[in-house]
Amino acid sequence: MNKKRLSIFASGSGSNAEKFFEHFKSHPEIEIVSIFTNNKSAGVIQRAERFGIPHHIYNRTYWETGEVIIDILKHEQVDFIVLAGFMLLIPGQLVSAFPNRIFNIHPALLPKYGGQGMYGMNVHKAVKAAGETESGLTIHFVNEAYDEGQILFQEKCQLDSTDSAEDIAAKVLKLEHKNYPKVVEQEVLKSI
Ligand code: GRF
Repeated sequence: MNKKRLSIFASGSGSNAEKFFEHFKSHPEIEIVSIFTNNKSAGVIQRAERFGIPHHIYNRTYWETGEVIIDILKHEQVDFIVLAGFMLLIPGQLVSAFPNRIFNIHPALLPKYGGQGMYGMNVHKAVKAAGETESGLTIHFVNEAYDEGQILFQEKCQLDSTDSAEDIAAKVLKLEHKNYPKVVEQEVLKSI
């Protein structure tokens, strides 16, 4: 049987992407075939190189329609896409080409702290400013409305009133690393 083929999109450090490289390194049914980034100095590139995973760098212009990217994904016979800290909007054409086949992770408990401008540290600063006693992560499918696709998994963490936005980010990132590859694995296996 052919393995299911995943591509990871990331713009930054790529610590989540690395968890995927480790998790699926010798998986019998799923493999990571490539990464895409819009940022030529993203840490994820070096991490991918260490695991021998090919990378593609395409600047913002290419993500406006996504045509070139869709062609490459088709050529690589990619079945699922994993967004792991990818900072640009996924073009509608790409979403339509992969219906319920694009995963995203959001570092908060959606529908709270999602939508426009809610990415990276902005999320954790907003959680801190609101005096929340808990935050967490959400793993969901991507649809045209971005943070509004079907929710697949959430997990909470407790916050202390003394936690800074950076402390909150660290607590949530730990949950991301623990859960993201496993949740994607379960969903992909369902499709087999
Ligand atoms: C994660 O918190 C992810 O949820 C977010 O950006 C961060 C990416 O971190 N949207 P990394 O690049 O995986 O280290």
